[in-house]
Amino acid sequence: MRILAIETSCDDTCVAVVETKHFKIVSNIVSSQVKLHAKYGGVFPSLARREHQKNLPIVFKKALSKDKNRKIDLIAVTSGPGLEPCLWTGINFGKELAKKMKLPIVPVNHIEAHILANIIDKKPVFPAVCLIVSGGHTQIILMKKIGEYKILGETKDDAAGECFDKTARILGLGYPGGPVISEKAAELRNKKLKITLPRPMIHQKNYDFSFSGLKTAVLYDFKKRSQKIRKSKQYIQEMSAEIQQTITDVLIKKTLKAAKDCKVKSIILSGGVASNKELRKQFLTAVNNQYVKIILSLPDEKLCTDNAVMVAVAGYFNWQKKKNWKEIEANANLRIADEL
Ligand code: KG4
Ligand code: ZN
Repeated sequence: MRILAIETSCDDTCVAVVETKHFKIVSNIVSSQVKLHAKYGGVFPSLARREHQKNLPIVFKKALSKDKNRKIDLIAVTSGPGLEPCLWTGINFGKELAKKMKLPIVPVNHIEAHILANIIDKKPVFPAVCLIVSGGHTQIILMKKIGEYKILGETKDDAAGECFDKTARILGLGYPGGPVISEKAAELRNKKLKITLPRPMIHQKNYDFSFSGLKTAVLYDFKKRSQKIRKSKQYIQEMSAEIQQTITDVLIKKTLKAAKDCKVKSIILSGGVASNKELRKQFLTAVNNQYVKIILSLPDEKLCTDNAVMVAVAGYFNWQKKKNWKEIEANANLRIADEL
């Protein structure tokens, strides 16, 4: 079966074609709006919708141009969570296509799609604890099998990716913050300023997070420094390394706690922040240092951030439920366990 998938929940316009046998990626086109939103330091919803409307036909054509003679069997589209005007753009485009091409269409939960990016190149091992870390979400989810999820904990305020983005903005590093903070942190040779940030909620006996205090702590430190220090390479590198380490410490501690408490066989990482090299490395070390054997599943780095390949994979499993989705609607606040 061949699936054409559409993803427009935030600021990336994505269309992919996936052959479900071994989840072969036929095409994976992502048109990023990063440059456009950079001046606002975050995503501007009405601007993002306008860009999706403009880009979707172009991205769609590109995605179909590879192997265009093969027939498509199903359309999958993200219906939530995300920015409502952006979600509607993708849904309406998908519905029109489905009508024109006389094809069935299935809705997809964006969070589930991120998690299922892991099964493209490997078999999942259940039960699993999933950590989803993106610009909009930070959740720990217990996954018994594909389609069966329970949220164990989540952020009470900012998401981990949002924290990277907001702290990068304070440091004048631009948007998105995660990749640039990771780059600056990697340049650090030795610590001279010895910055330490608080690890929010790290010792609490739950699986919840809080990252907004971290942003405040960075701002507080930044404001007390002289202009010369603030602009220095040393300060930027050291602060970037400390931000990255703080977020990494909290994510690893809470995820391992959940994995041990629930006695799962594997930990599954997903979302844009899961492409962070240091986070991946330290997760691997932490998991290997456990007495009990736990498998760590990491998605391909390119499939961590938003893409439509993961939507095609999730769409395939939804299609197997044999439900007739006539009225697909955008749901900005869709939760992973919610009915689609
Ligand atoms: O999953 P995603 O593409 O979109 C959402 O669903 O939100 O995640 C985007 C987020 C941004 O906040 C970005 O700063 C973060 O992922 N991100 C990273 C890295 N690459 C992207 N964070 C840390 N390190 C990275 N290498
Ligand atoms: Zn996402």
